Amino acid sequence: MKSSPGAPIGIFDSGIGGLTVVKSVMQALPNESIVYFGDTARVPYGIKSAETVKEYALQITDFLLRKRVKMILIACNTVAASARNAIEHKSGSVPVLDVISAGAQAAAALRHEHNMIGVIGTLATVGSGAYEDALKQQNPSLSVFSKACPMLVPLAEEGWIDNEVARATLDIYLRDFTHTRFDGLILGCTHYPLFRDQIMAYFNNPNLQIVDSADAIAAMAAEYLDNARLLNSAPDQTTFSCYVSDKPQRFQALAERFLGKNINRVEVVNMP
Ligand code: DGL
Repeated sequence: MKSSPGAPIGIFDSGIGGLTVVKSVMQALPNESIVYFGDTARVPYGIKSAETVKEYALQITDFLLRKRVKMILIACNTVAASARNAIEHKSGSVPVLDVISAGAQAAAALRHEHNMIGVIGTLATVGSGAYEDALKQQNPSLSVFSKACPMLVPLAEEGWIDNEVARATLDIYLRDFTHTRFDGLILGCTHYPLFRDQIMAYFNNPNLQIVDSADAIAAMAAEYLDNARLLNSAPDQTTFSCYVSDKPQRFQALAERFLGKNINRVEVVNMP
């Protein structure tokens, strides 16, 4: 079915992390409606097998297609690493963009001195080698130094962003990077931009180039919709619909704090 300009953009993640993408899309494309799905009943994805993540991701793709979205943004690196092709196949003519391609493109455009890019992500993303592949496609001379940081996802879902547990966890994960020369650090999990200030403080280097794929995918989406003549032409009717597979008690408060705006309703959808 052909996408219509007035239709919403579908964005999804395993939980709250994809709201980092929602925030960037709202800034880059303020006239667009958004349908967000956070799979809060089944987060975290990053410690699960690729088969399981793919199964969940295809169920969510189905849900978004039923909402008649005009584009799908995979706001989850773990899903992008394990299920991108399957999602694209299922989506047919509805375009699909993902945070790994967007992040790799942005990282390749950084100032390079050492030709080394740091990547932090979930066990699944780092284990898949998806960033190595995507970066090499952009520039074959780039190497990757990566580290899985699985504990950051439950900390973010809990809202433990800036306390001593979060700082101690970041110290354990990031200390290897202090012995490595790298040109930029990709936040290769959409939960991690929530720790951006703490990561900057840890490295204490104002020149550190951080790649947040949320901004990168929002810019890609804007370009794509413009070229495809799919930008919304009735901006006074934009909506933000937020769906989750379970409603953790603090979800709405955390999400509102993070987006800096009220969310009228967070609806719970039972996944099969
Ligand atoms: N935010 C997701 C990502 O970008 C997944 C986190 C998780 O569920 O483990 O990989």
